[in-house]
Amino acid sequence: MTTDEIAVLVVDDNDDDAVLIGHSLTRAGLPVRVTRAETTEEVTAALTGLKVDVVICDYNLPGVRAEDVLAQVGAHDADLPFVLVSGQVGEETAADLMRAGARDFVLKDRLTRLAPAVQRELHEAAERRRHRRIEQQLRQAERLDSLGQLAGGIAHDFNNILAVISGYAAMLTEELGPGHELHADAVAIEQAAARGSGLTRQLLIFSGLEPSRPELLDLNAVATDMQRVLSRTLGDDVELTMMLSLSVPRILIDRSKLEQVIMNAAMNARAAMPSCGRLTLRTEVVRESGQVCLSITDNGCGMSPEVAARAFEPFFTTKGRGRGTGLGLATAYGVIAEANGTITLDSHEGAGTTLRICLPPAEVAAPASTLVKRPAAASGRVLVVEDEDGVRDIVCRILRRAGYEVHAAADPAEALRLVREQHLTMDALLTDIIMPGMSGTQLAAELRRTRPDLPVLFMSGYTSGPAPGGQALPPDAPLLHKPFQTENLLNALHAVLP
Ligand SMILES: Nc1ncnc2c1ncn2[C@@H]1O[C@H](COP(=O)(O)OP(=O)(O)OP(=O)(O)O)[C@@H](O)[C@H]1O
Ligand SMILES: [Mg+2]
Repeated sequence: MTTDEIAVLVVDDNDDDAVLIGHSLTRAGLPVRVTRAETTEEVTAALTGLKVDVVICDYNLPGVRAEDVLAQVGAHDADLPFVLVSGQVGEETAADLMRAGARDFVLKDRLTRLAPAVQRELHEAAERRRHRRIEQQLRQAERLDSLGQLAGGIAHDFNNILAVISGYAAMLTEELGPGHELHADAVAIEQAAARGSGLTRQLLIFSGLEPSRPELLDLNAVATDMQRVLSRTLGDDVELTMMLSLSVPRILIDRSKLEQVIMNAAMNARAAMPSCGRLTLRTEVVRESGQVCLSITDNGCGMSPEVAARAFEPFFTTKGRGRGTGLGLATAYGVIAEANGTITLDSHEGAGTTLRICLPPAEVAAPASTLVKRPAAASGRVLVVEDEDGVRDIVCRILRRAGYEVHAAADPAEALRLVREQHLTMDALLTDIIMPGMSGTQLAAELRRTRPDLPVLFMSGYTSGPAPGGQALPPDAPLLHKPFQTENLLNALHAVLP
């Protein structure tokens, strides 16, 4: 059977009539293959077992009513064209059948009309299916949109909860020490919280609710910085190879989102190489386009053409419920598209997969990046302003442990009171952004009126544009995403201090 062959199901008790119908279509140049059925069971068998493009049904059948065949066809596929052919039929009956969904009605002695009718109906059915597909895509887009809003709505609270969980778990882990029998339990809590925050972040990035803070980045440096965490993710059985081009122009992209893209690709590669394998990160400048490219290659199971065609689709996963959300590549696509880049897949079943990311070079020269190292023992006075009690407590404890002198305020008004009435002086301000009464950005501006050089580190769970009633965060303001790891908090604070 060739693909453009038209599969016709003729419902007729008379073989000669079926042959006649077939001939009339062939004579008109339609490449048809005719199957005949005369009972409900035969119709069912044909509809379910064969490909059927059009149903042509006789009206006067001894064993079955045309009305019933029509209903049966409609229930199977509402878009499948149904054409009635009959020696004689009352106008009333014909009209009833047309109302019930029959597409056309042809008299047996006027069979020359049949071929054009079939052609027209096939064309219209294809149009109907196309419309339906577009409608489905629209509905899917709407669904994703509301999902994104939902995710954003809970992400702020959810991230705060996770920050508390992971903060306390980290502290427990450290306090108990590796020798303690509960140490592994505390580590498990920490890991679960990290997975939770990973998923929230993925949802936020995917739904476009996580604001982008593009920076000028050296792709080689990003890849090198990630080497450790990548080898940890990949495990001992996967060999990690870096092939970095000597020098690549900088690119402009949100660092943490780019890291998420690389991480998603690495996790996909890991899943595709269950026993062992090799992951290669390669950077290069494409001579023709001048674009900076990063390719991530594995020698895993690869994808069938069907899977590859759908891999970027949101929620498409072959990993099964609970194991994959199908957001990894969809998120990657969104992130790279936002940075004006392209992302493509090259996969061969059984041989491996390459994910290739190309980004335009940024023209402006960037200042040399400063390397941030965690200090052995920190010192200095820090004012922490955060309205969530749990988050404030854990942040204060982390900072005190690291050696800082910490003062805390539950909102900006209290912070201003501490400074103005109790003459608190500080080396740095660490503040949440969205708080009741006044935003963290307004508080920082207020304090900087008397201390223009006051180092400020903002922390935020989720900001979508300007904070309510406050100014937007300046693009170069240091921002810490909640929930954060102890190490990130200390590094970020150290970086803003003189
Ligand atoms: N490197 C790869 N090798 C083989 N198949 C892959 C690879 N990357 C992606 N795929 C296929 O594409 C599908 C979609 O990938 P995607 O990262 O979007 O979702 P996921 O990995 O299934 O779930 P999630 O990333 O949300 O945990 C995967 O389920 C897998 O079938
Ligand atoms: Mg994935």
